[in-house]
Amino acid sequence: MHFLVGIVSTFVLAQGASAAFGLTSSSSRFIVDTDGGLVFEVNKSNGDITSLKYNGVEYQGTSKASGINSGLGTSTVTGETVNGYVKITVKSSALPVTQYYVAKPKDAMIYMATYHTAEVDPGELRWLARLKTSELPTGVHGNVGDTRGCTAIEGKDTFKCSNGQTRCKMYTSDRFIDDKVHCVSGSKASVCMVMPGVAYETSASGPFMRDINSQTGDSDQELYWYMNSGHVRTESWRFGLQGPYAMAFGATNYKPSDTLDTSFFSTLSIQGYVAASGRGTVSGTTSGVADGFETVVHFHNTNAQYWAKSTGGKYTSSQMKPGTYGVNLYKQEFLVANDTVTVTAGKTATKDIASKEPSLPVIWRIGEFDGQPFDLKNGDKIERMHPSDTRMGTWGGSFTVGSSKATDFPMALWSKEGGSATVKFTLTQEQVKGHVFRIGTTLSFKGGRPSVKVNSWTGTDPGAPTLIDSRGVTRGAYRGYGNVYTWTVPSSAFVVGSNTLTVGVYGSGDASWLSANYIVDALELQD
Ligand SMILES: *[C@@H]1O[C@H](CO)[C@@H](O)[C@H](O)[C@H]1NC(C)=O
Ligand SMILES: *[C@@H]1O[C@H](CO)[C@@H](O)[C@H](O)[C@H]1NC(C)=O
Repeated sequence: MHFLVGIVSTFVLAQGASAAFGLTSSSSRFIVDTDGGLVFEVNKSNGDITSLKYNGVEYQGTSKASGINSGLGTSTVTGETVNGYVKITVKSSALPVTQYYVAKPKDAMIYMATYHTAEVDPGELRWLARLKTSELPTGVHGNVGDTRGCTAIEGKDTFKCSNGQTRCKMYTSDRFIDDKVHCVSGSKASVCMVMPGVAYETSASGPFMRDINSQTGDSDQELYWYMNSGHVRTESWRFGLQGPYAMAFGATNYKPSDTLDTSFFSTLSIQGYVAASGRGTVSGTTSGVADGFETVVHFHNTNAQYWAKSTGGKYTSSQMKPGTYGVNLYKQEFLVANDTVTVTAGKTATKDIASKEPSLPVIWRIGEFDGQPFDLKNGDKIERMHPSDTRMGTWGGSFTVGSSKATDFPMALWSKEGGSATVKFTLTQEQVKGHVFRIGTTLSFKGGRPSVKVNSWTGTDPGAPTLIDSRGVTRGAYRGYGNVYTWTVPSSAFVVGSNTLTVGVYGSGDASWLSANYIVDALELQD
């Protein structure tokens, strides 16, 4: 008998990839075979992932391991098989973080969840896989975060290449509400992060927050899931369980389902995990948001956040933790109403919410008040490149009411760069009266806010908005607190015939593109 077993195991080992599902262990590491083509190794002293072999090819980079932040340091690492799943628990001694790695038979995935009880230095929490660029050269959104051969021009993370194009890992970002799967890929495989269901419930800054997804360097293709950061953060961090989420391996162009089922985590004793039975939902109607704008309902309190897209005037939330939540209604990304709702486990609460945005007649409007600058000049490019990129259109602009398009007015203005923006419009005798001028901004940097001049009349300085201590527009970010400013312009400011509005910037900041700036949502002269 013993003789036979010996022969069988030698044969199985020689097959390599066809080994069975399960956990094995050496003195220094745990080895997990998913029996789905993926075999990965976890360092027993710090929980680092040190090997990621898919179909026999090693994808783990050689310079640094994969893990949370830059590694959890000395940790208690345990491995076990629970209810047919492999579960590895990494409890950090240095950081207030416990990381879980879970494998399910036949899946080429590492399922994960991250429990944390306090802010982790340097103020961010992220999953970071350091994969081989040689095997996976294409990043999220292609080459926008590919810094190879390029030189840092700003903050050590924003690069310019010899062809005048710019690169930054921030340019790989997508809105959390849309970012359920993102992948890096090569000729043999793709590796994807999957954030299904309520994976973002413990993140911060709402459905339109965007964060780094990948960065391509000479040796490492870095694949991220940012759970929280200080990158244009508008809310306090939340604590508890992040995820569950997964890193999934597949063929080139593989795209795992964004409805990945992680409900089996309820059987694995994961700290902070709240099963569906301990949750409730909210459903209701939305009204008053004009056609053509996405309608989003957003729930938030200090413990959790959720969102739902409303279609045909109806929405249903995801499975939420019990509690009382603020409810925001957005016309695209523009806040048009708020309310509160209380969620109870096992129940569906009803909350109907109507837009409170007034519908005022205007003499003219440029762009739409939708919380996004994409309809203005360079708005189509700003998420993926620096304002100095050679592919950008010129900054500044002259807009003539009646003949110009919204794309003639710049989506951002700087105090020391980018030129000025003017709007020329004509008024009849009847229209020469007092008017309200309104300008919506989506993000401000270094206190930047609009200065307004109508002919020779100058509007008062509205004062610096709440500071967001983070670079914004130069790193592809467009969304912050979203201040809307109004000025009551007296009749004496206007003339019959041709009038000129000049829009500029109050605030200073550093030189050039890091001078005080703001991003424009829309502007209008009300009747
Ligand atoms: C595991 O981590 C320890 C501590 O950082 C390190 O000394 C060791 O070389 C690592 N082992 C492997 C297999 O990477
Ligand atoms: C609604 O928004 C206003 C203005 O931002 C805020 O003061 C108020 O607390 C919010 N109410 C709710 C119910 O969230």
